[in-house]
Amino acid sequence: MMSLLPWVSEVAIDVGTANVHVAVKDGGVVVREPALVAYRVSNDTPVAFGTEAKQMLEQGVTEVYVVQPLQAGVVADMNAAAVMLRHYLQKALGRRPLFSPTVLTAYPTAATQVSRRALVQALRAAGAGRVIALQKSLATATGAGLAVDAATTAMVIDIGAGTTDAAALSMGMISDGISVPLGGASLDEALVRGIKRQQGIRLSHHAAEEIKLHVGSVDPSLASSPPAGAANMGSFSDKADDIKAFGVQLDEVPDIIHDACMPIAEELSWLIEQLPAKVRSHLGTTGAVMTGGTSQLRGLSSLLGNRTGVPMAVATDPMSCTMLGLQAILNNLHALSLDGRRVSFAALTRS
Ligand SMILES: Nc1ncnc2c1ncn2[C@@H]1O[C@H](COP(=O)(O)OP(=O)(O)OP(=O)(O)O)[C@@H](O)[C@H]1O
Ligand SMILES: [Mg+2]
Repeated sequence: MMSLLPWVSEVAIDVGTANVHVAVKDGGVVVREPALVAYRVSNDTPVAFGTEAKQMLEQGVTEVYVVQPLQAGVVADMNAAAVMLRHYLQKALGRRPLFSPTVLTAYPTAATQVSRRALVQALRAAGAGRVIALQKSLATATGAGLAVDAATTAMVIDIGAGTTDAAALSMGMISDGISVPLGGASLDEALVRGIKRQQGIRLSHHAAEEIKLHVGSVDPSLASSPPAGAANMGSFSDKADDIKAFGVQLDEVPDIIHDACMPIAEELSWLIEQLPAKVRSHLGTTGAVMTGGTSQLRGLSSLLGNRTGVPMAVATDPMSCTMLGLQAILNNLHALSLDGRRVSFAALTRS
């Protein structure tokens, strides 16, 4: 369906801790960029965003400092978030005038009202007009292809950079969900500490992330081949020399990552234990779907499946599910209830 006013744009935006994705209505995903802003040290003005800011960080450019506006899935630096979102909205809309676009977005499923408001406020400050915000699991489950409005329960577990956002969904609504500040960033932090303790080497968080992506596994026996998401970080061989330069004994890395994943397993077990016995037993047969960048760690789906008693499968294109769900809902806004808490999957698939 066309907008009533042809010059009014509609966009969907997944504002993640590590990555921002933007799609325009009836178009594709037009922005996929790291959620970073580089500021010039001398006058605190933003000079680069996304990939370019990340390159400056990697190259250790001293004239700039780099800010990640979101931490643990929520806006931590309002000014940086607004500046970054304005840049990406303008990039997405290109030559279309930035005429207060309608923006569909998602906040962590169990977010506080304060952090929900902060996201809406950052988008408004970035130039958005109407902002429609929904719980992230509704979008992620839709993007992962789960039948969110079936009368049975489906489960989606999104393990991103800053949060693990998981929910049981049924009849187009979330019946129970959690958002906890655990994900890729907490694994990087565990590596910084573990490598320092075991090998006496002090790594930056960025170096720890590179090592995590290179090893790519929670299980030493699965850690030898290139990581599934290696394409996101340049080719495996490109990075091999950089990794060697850190001087870290890599065979200790899977165990450190494994141990750092245990709190995630505990949180998921907690969520699953709260569900009615009938629903638990149903999920024990049908399983749950994992999304988010961190879900790509080899061995993680079996680890979480064994710990929780719910078999886990990783979605296709796991880092895009939230965005794809938002995009599908944007293209069928009538499928979303007015309070943004219910999605009619039937309406999505009919159009
Ligand atoms: N192949 C991989 N193996 C393990 N971790 C990966 C892989 N690819 C990416 N990651 C990690 O996934 C995280 C980014 O995932 P994603 O883009 O889903 O997060 P996000 O949506 O920005 O964050 P959040 O949803 O938590 O706010 C980073 O921590 C990154 O290190
Ligand atoms: Mg995410």
